[in-house]
Amino acid sequence: MRVRSIFLALFSLSLLLSIAFSSFQLLPDSGISSSDLDAILQDYAFKAFCNPKTGVPYDAKLPKNLSGISVSAMRLKSSSLRKRGVQSYKEFQIPIGVVEQPSVERLVLVYHNLGNWSEVFYPLPGYSYLASVLGLLAYNGANLSASDLPELDIRASDKPILIKFSNVKSAPSGSVPKCVYFDLHGSVQFDILSPENACSTLQQGHFSIVVESNAPAPAPAPAPEPVAVVENGGNNKYKVWIIVGIVAGGLLLVIILSLIAGRVIRIKKDMKIQQLEQVSESYENLKITSIGSTKAPLAIGTRTKPILENNYVP
Ligand SMILES: *[C@@H]1O[C@H](CO)[C@@H](O)[C@H](O)[C@H]1NC(C)=O
Ligand SMILES: *[C@@H]1O[C@H](CO)[C@@H](O)[C@H](O)[C@H]1NC(C)=O
Ligand SMILES: *[C@@H]1O[C@H](CO)[C@@H](O)[C@H](O)[C@H]1NC(C)=O
Repeated sequence: MRVRSIFLALFSLSLLLSIAFSSFQLLPDSGISSSDLDAILQDYAFKAFCNPKTGVPYDAKLPKNLSGISVSAMRLKSSSLRKRGVQSYKEFQIPIGVVEQPSVERLVLVYHNLGNWSEVFYPLPGYSYLASVLGLLAYNGANLSASDLPELDIRASDKPILIKFSNVKSAPSGSVPKCVYFDLHGSVQFDILSPENACSTLQQGHFSIVVESNAPAPAPAPAPEPVAVVENGGNNKYKVWIIVGIVAGGLLLVIILSLIAGRVIRIKKDMKIQQLEQVSESYENLKITSIGSTKAPLAIGTRTKPILENNYVP
């Protein structure tokens, strides 16, 4: 009885643990993180350049497995960016006074429109997107064949950079659309949406418009999305290995815990046997006397001495 309930407890514990661990799956599911995507898109954006003119956007060609995303690149002298800004670069309006850190002579502004991949790379539980996630990232423009470049840090020092979204879905009645901003380190900020569907920023990153979704967002709901998106075998393999790891870890835990439980049960049994032995030993201390043909333990001392009735004189 007790053994069975211990195993039941162990089983449910391991089940709980594996559920807890499986939430890790959500993070690396598309196989590439949003910062990996930034690096991939930087590479394709730079390849779009062929004797580039400064201040002109060049659209990049992306592979089929990224279709739905659009990327452009614009090369600028940093002095020109600072003094003149860029009146319009797709949805972005860059004012004067934007400076980069560390300082370079030429920089490349890479534009992202993640289209139907927005939720995949920037999942936001509890919210739904009314517009595509747009990105603006700055890189050193000295070597146009370079890849894996780190982003430069750009900051608007005078007026903020404006993002005027087009193709914005109308918000459900009663809900208030908000600007959302993802910085390059994965933190998220919300801001009010100005009229004409414009958001503003002092820094680079990714931007969109969201509304809080009324439907309660259960934790497992976003899980199938990235799965459906995965097309290359490598990512699936990754997922399978995570599941295998979880199952193996769970089994190992059950085995270890049941070994410990077995040990505890055996120690308890041993203790019981010892107790029984002690009891029987104490019986052995009693003198065995033969009464007729049967042997019986005989206590030497008696607690109450028998008193003869006729000692009493009424
Ligand atoms: C897309 O396909 C190319 C091969 O055409 C592959 O090298 C690359 O890893 C794939 N990228 C993604 C993001 O799946
Ligand atoms: C986005 O749409 C393109 C077709 O325009 C499709 O090939 C791609 O798989 C879609 N991506 C996602 C994440 O649904
Ligand atoms: C530019 O980068 C490429 C790739 O990293 C490298 O092979 C090349 O030498 C670099 N060119 C210059 C001028 O630094």
